[in-house]
Amino acid sequence: MSSIVIVGTQWGDEGKGKIVDLLTGKTDLVVRYQGGNNAGHTVVFGGNTYVLHLVPSGIFHPGKTAVLGNGVVIDPAALLEEIGYLKDHGVSVEGRLKVSDQAHLIMPYHKAFDKLRESLKGAGKIGTTGRGIGPAYEDKAGRSGVRFCDFLPENRKGLGERLKSILEEKNVLLKSHFHSDQLFDVDTVLAGAAAQYEKLKPFICDTSLLVNEALEQGRNVMFEGAQGTLLDVDHGTYPYVTSSSTAAGGACTGSGVGPTRIQKVVGITKAYTTRVGEGPFPTEETGTPVAETLQKRGHEVGATTGRIRRCGWFDGVAVRQAARLNGMTHLAITKLDVMDTLDSVNVCVAYQDEQGNRLHSLPHWLGGSGRKITPVYEEMPGWACSTRGITRLEDMPKLARRYVDRLSELAGVPIALISTGPSREETIFLEDLF
Ligand code: IMP
Repeated sequence: MSSIVIVGTQWGDEGKGKIVDLLTGKTDLVVRYQGGNNAGHTVVFGGNTYVLHLVPSGIFHPGKTAVLGNGVVIDPAALLEEIGYLKDHGVSVEGRLKVSDQAHLIMPYHKAFDKLRESLKGAGKIGTTGRGIGPAYEDKAGRSGVRFCDFLPENRKGLGERLKSILEEKNVLLKSHFHSDQLFDVDTVLAGAAAQYEKLKPFICDTSLLVNEALEQGRNVMFEGAQGTLLDVDHGTYPYVTSSSTAAGGACTGSGVGPTRIQKVVGITKAYTTRVGEGPFPTEETGTPVAETLQKRGHEVGATTGRIRRCGWFDGVAVRQAARLNGMTHLAITKLDVMDTLDSVNVCVAYQDEQGNRLHSLPHWLGGSGRKITPVYEEMPGWACSTRGITRLEDMPKLARRYVDRLSELAGVPIALISTGPSREETIFLEDLF
């Protein structure tokens, strides 16, 4: 039995989709434990590109089970749409997709609140994906959430009563605070969600039981994180974060599995850094040729929102912090080939605050304070030749090898694999993870 958690070490979009897809071959179950359809996992195979927002990308492998754990917030409309997308592409989900009966639903009013709040915040906005993620998690923590198990026929009456009082409060807020004329009627909301529940019913079960039983039977389980460590609600650049526990610890609470079950934690990192949405980004390059190269060559456009991603140098301090927060045992480096044309490259090894003090971790006040820190860079020669598609470490240009070794040294974690292009084949494996 092996159990591996895959996490992003930066602000998301590290290329987790490809790594999860690669490792799924040796996995029996792939489990998502947090987030919702704010994620965008891209997988390339057979010359085609597929993007999933909710269902674990392991679903593309026949015979594997894909699980949406209790920690995921699920927009039933988005899930039904994704099931349709998979079917249209010849991927059958019957019997292979399992959805936790404890997972909270993203309700239509959550999406309305997400958009209204962002539009009112102006310059202070977070830059959310507008999918209702934050409001759904707020209601979960505030004990006003709606779960799939609430739709069982014998629970419907109780749900109706709860929803009535939830919507009374929401409608007051919508009317008097947001001056919105989009109010929510309990019967309409309930009927809509109940109809979606009926379609999703075949997939819904106790997924904690399922995952624990699989582990007991000695099967291999992979926990697929969404977003990245620096977007974690506790450990990220608060308040510019998402609303879930993206770090490896979230795999336990978000799937109902104890910490003693986790054996390995693989942190995925881009060879440089990107961020989408607002918030601190110490190594960001704005308007420079490097920013343009990374954005263009890396096709750095958000898979979910289509927004251009902000780009910058590799931040060794942030990734080392992610290694600590996640208890990372391995590193996987992605998109190295994007940097192939650069003559010289920078890596951030420390920060300096406005008083000139050296900092060796990402300060916790960075997000909310308006204070700035500047990166301290180490300059390294670029390899200025192609690494695209290399599959053996021996074939890697010496300077590129030096660069990835330095990233591993800064993170304090050994490299398990390096991705040298988007497709499955374009990968260097240094260690067998299962
Ligand atoms: P939310 O998750 O939609 O509430 O957005 C909160 C922040 O997380 C925003 O800055 C989003 O851009 C960011 N975010 C959410 N999901 C992703 C993702 O999958 N990749 C990168 N950033 C994300």
